[in-house]
Amino acid sequence: MPRLYKFAVGIERLAETGRTDMLRVMVLHGPNLNLLGTREESIYGTATLDAIDTSLAKLSEDLGITLDIRQSNLEGELVTWIQEARSGYQGIIINPAAYTHTSVAIRDALAAVNLPTIEVHLSNIHRREEFRRTSYVSGVALAQISGFGPVGYLLALRGLHEHLRSNGSKLPGPRTRSTPRPRTRTRSH
Ligand code: DQA
Repeated sequence: MPRLYKFAVGIERLAETGRTDMLRVMVLHGPNLNLLGTREESIYGTATLDAIDTSLAKLSEDLGITLDIRQSNLEGELVTWIQEARSGYQGIIINPAAYTHTSVAIRDALAAVNLPTIEVHLSNIHRREEFRRTSYVSGVALAQISGFGPVGYLLALRGLHEHLRSNGSKLPGPRTRSTPRPRTRTRSH
């Protein structure tokens, strides 16, 4: 069963703040990232995927973004989800994990949907084994963030938000003091 999380600010709160122009971003985690926290800790650290997703969800609330976070160990499932992002999403953040170095199918799906995509890697793939230095995804991504650990996901979300704002999307800016923090977070599955 894939992990599917949806994080959204509460509708009532949105009505109060008038921030109904929500940006929707799909966050995809590839194979073996469900094992973070116990997997090769010297390379990937001790943060779990849940902890990463929770910090992403918190930042998304601050930025006024709805996140749809999913993890799969299956290439085809990731391809299907990327295709799904064609309707209703403005961007994608993806750590394709090992598929980074092998998957023409994931690259083609990203090229087909043509949404601004940020490629994230916890480790610096350019400092590791030779085979990890090739990314099939980077050629169709807006940017690659590699080597910052879990913070890389937060940088990706901030960068994508800035990119979409500066490219004319009608998005809310980061919340200011006078804009109260939305309190509701929904999590499905
Ligand atoms: C990774 C790097 C990949 O080479 C590796 O296969 C992963 C994780 C990273 O986040 O550093 O599974 O994408």
